[in-house]
Amino acid sequence: MNTLTHLLTARAYTPVNALEQHAEHLQAQSLSDLIGGDSAAARQRASALAYTFESLHLDLSKQRITQETLSLLTDWALSCGLEAKRNALFAGAQVNSSERRSALHMAARWPANVTPPNGMEKAAEFCQYQRGRLAEMVDRLHQRQWFGATGQSITDVVHIGVGGSDLGPKMISEALADRPSHTHVDVHYVSCMDGAQLLPLIERLNPATTLLVLASKSFTTADTQFNIRTALAWLSDSLEVDVPTVCRHQLIGVSSKPEKMTEFGIPDAHQLVFKDWIGGRFSLWSPIGVSVAMQLGMESFNALLDGAHAMDRHFLETPLTENLPALVALVGAWNCQFLNIATHAVLPYDGRLKSLTAYLQQLEMESNGKSVRLDGRSVNHATCPIIWGDVGPNAQHAFYQLLHQGGHTVSADFVAVARREVDATQNVADSLAAQEQLTLANCLAQAQLFALGDDAIPKALSGHMAQGYRGNHPNTLLLLKQLDAWSMGALVALYEHKVFVQSVLWNLNPFDQPGVELGKKLATSLFNTMADSSSEQDLVRDPSTEQLLHKIGEWR
Ligand code: F6P
Repeated sequence: MNTLTHLLTARAYTPVNALEQHAEHLQAQSLSDLIGGDSAAARQRASALAYTFESLHLDLSKQRITQETLSLLTDWALSCGLEAKRNALFAGAQVNSSERRSALHMAARWPANVTPPNGMEKAAEFCQYQRGRLAEMVDRLHQRQWFGATGQSITDVVHIGVGGSDLGPKMISEALADRPSHTHVDVHYVSCMDGAQLLPLIERLNPATTLLVLASKSFTTADTQFNIRTALAWLSDSLEVDVPTVCRHQLIGVSSKPEKMTEFGIPDAHQLVFKDWIGGRFSLWSPIGVSVAMQLGMESFNALLDGAHAMDRHFLETPLTENLPALVALVGAWNCQFLNIATHAVLPYDGRLKSLTAYLQQLEMESNGKSVRLDGRSVNHATCPIIWGDVGPNAQHAFYQLLHQGGHTVSADFVAVARREVDATQNVADSLAAQEQLTLANCLAQAQLFALGDDAIPKALSGHMAQGYRGNHPNTLLLLKQLDAWSMGALVALYEHKVFVQSVLWNLNPFDQPGVELGKKLATSLFNTMADSSSEQDLVRDPSTEQLLHKIGEWR
């Protein structure tokens, strides 16, 4: 090629081009070769790719990356203005441009004794005020001073919400359910619009001692409105009091729309408010988390917020090369955009984290599952992989076969907990400790097999194999020292900031969800058609849906 042709065909240097070329080079070798055997260089690589922040340990050494990859990725992030955009996020800039809002969920966990960044002061003050009100309500409940419509003290809380108004609190309630809470209150979660979760509770709970929490940022989501209607009908019928009376005594509202809560009949004293600058999927830390506080107590709820705040500070103050959320984001974007890995498995090796996958599905896919950039241009690659997964030990007996010997490549996050505190007899504690060890051993074995494939198999065992293990699934291990409120807060905030960093790389608005909104509108029109087929609804009528509507009508 002569110089002129070379100049005409050579692509201008951009961080993205450099990463594309680097990906071609790295993909030519197996992950096993990259990770290497037992050499000094391999050990050095592994140790350079492991990071600890307080009780969280991040191991990226089974990713298809080198120090050069990280350096190119960091250059890319800097060229996208990540540091300035991160500071703008914390300063309350209008980062949610389509809805003209800031995104200040960090204000909800900002401690009163720490000066907030310029621009966050008012938001932090408002959140601290609401947290004080939340604490008063929780205290009243725990002092057995919250009485239902018939004068009995509350024992059960039914939290009704969906999406961000459900997934976060539910996940935390499950994760920390084994912690000593010293409260007498049981919390139950209801999200599914079909009432299937509500029905067994209606059969089991005492209506006189049940408090409902209506959690809905918009206060219009049909799923939640229909569930609450059924729950109120149950309380009203069984206590023989009217619905307004039930609302006055046995209903707490959590929303960004106080006027709608008032209209609904919820007294001011039972309303908890957060502002629209906290997105639904980022709202765990706001009063949306009230049911967590009711279940576990304020001390645990505050520890959750403290862990998240510590991660905020880490994200804000640590150079990108050591910054856990940034590193997780960069490696995730590398897998998705440059290695073309379309799906990402979340595999917690701890049954208490059974809802982590669902939580991250909303957090990541609702935030970055978009293809129009902030500048209006289309994205020409996938943004955000498809997030899926399950509790690892159970998943081993379900879908791991395909991962080991099927044809797909996935990336994965293994999440494990190093130690568990149990309050049990010595024999039970010893037996549980062995189970814990078994679980960790399985987690490490699977992570190794995912990455190295056949090379992870000792010679003595490999002789029996009819078919090889494909390996080459890059994966991350996130190890928590223990599963407590602080660590959970830090872990969740790490993922929140991961999402933000990726949105900067891909130039997306991670804080809106226009695709979901339209689906809700269409369903409302169909709902009205089903109620009255002669009604004029704005619907596109296709024969497939028509025929299904007909069949449902026939069978109902
Ligand atoms: O799924 C769309 C969505 O708007 C989520 O972003 C939100 O978390 C969920 O619905 C519930 O919304 P709301 O809290 O307003 O009831």
